[in-house]
Amino acid sequence: MPSDVPSKTKLLLRALSGETLKTPPIWLMRQAGRYLPEYRATRTQAGSFLDLCYNPELAEEVTLQPIRRFGFDASILFSDILVVPDAMGRKVAFREGEGPVLEPLRHVDEIARLNCDVTEHLAPVYETVRRLRKSLPAETALIGFAGAPWTVATYIVGGSGSQDQAAAKAWMYRAGDEFQQLIDKLVAATIEHLSAQVEAGAEVLQIFDTWAGSLPALYFHRFSIAPTKTIVAALRARFPDVPVIGFPRGAGALAMEYFLQTGIQGLSLDTAQSLSFAKEALQPIGCVQGNLDPLLLVAGGKAMRSAARHILGELRDRPFVFNLGHGIVPQTPPEHVAALVELVRGSPK
Ligand code: CP3
Repeated sequence: MPSDVPSKTKLLLRALSGETLKTPPIWLMRQAGRYLPEYRATRTQAGSFLDLCYNPELAEEVTLQPIRRFGFDASILFSDILVVPDAMGRKVAFREGEGPVLEPLRHVDEIARLNCDVTEHLAPVYETVRRLRKSLPAETALIGFAGAPWTVATYIVGGSGSQDQAAAKAWMYRAGDEFQQLIDKLVAATIEHLSAQVEAGAEVLQIFDTWAGSLPALYFHRFSIAPTKTIVAALRARFPDVPVIGFPRGAGALAMEYFLQTGIQGLSLDTAQSLSFAKEALQPIGCVQGNLDPLLLVAGGKAMRSAARHILGELRDRPFVFNLGHGIVPQTPPEHVAALVELVRGSPK
């Protein structure tokens, strides 16, 4: 592994290991993306979105862009959760203005044909990670990531994004044991993908369960908590020092069971999560991260500043990482991001 500042001096790693810091670390979900003019320029140069994800030189460049501008405490690898189904044999395309498109998987026989050995196809992604460990500033932690099995399954079965995840749910309710086979395949592929990122130099991992909140409680245990727990256990056995952050978006009060049962070190809070619940029920379990509304970052000004101060006031006395409740949206003015970083850094206790 590259020699640099001993990992434990990096603020994100300190917060995730349970330390309360004077100034909380800050990074933002989707910190690399279309709101930055330099991203749009590189994206045009790359061709398609997936071409960018599979081009180590350009993916390294777009990962570094927000670090150069804002000096975040952590850098998240530029990639996508849908490279995993792409590597499993469910070809993914990103259509302009339409989001991801896949050929919907609807027959149980197709599940057996999914390839779980994804690391060969995803070799360019690990090359990006290796490059980043060399090029990132010594104080910046590098985060690798993957989608949670449930969330990735909603795209594989649905064939695109959806508001209600109806296609995946229909299968899950009709034939839970068949659907379980798909989840099991995704668990295996995700463990290999995340392990390869750590071997290439990722220091923290985040698991995005964007659609966790659409699962009824009983199914939340089976299809969000249980697969995540298996993934985290496998990763902790291989890499005991690499912390894992979970993002069960929309989980509400179930976030507590998710935090307790999955074995993660950090819990990412969505925008709607209650701060008093986070403070009283979640921070005693471990570090929390969040949860400014990305649309407050679009608004900027007084509304953004008072909301950010409120979050700091509620959560900074225990292990905490400042972040958004979901990803930055394309219409965000970069100056608002700079103002937010200044506010979080400029108000030490
Ligand atoms: O900066 C970072 O956060 C790292 C890169 C990253 C991307 N996607 C880049 C991206 C990460 C961590 C993701 C995760 C991701 N991808 C999730 C989980 C988190 C979340 O936002 O809920 C999901 C559900 C996806 C799937 C996905 N990728 C969708 C639905 C879309 C289309 C919507 C959109 O914003 O266009 C993408 C495309 C995508 N992934 C873009 C980026 C920068 C925009 C594509 C472009 O440049 O044209």
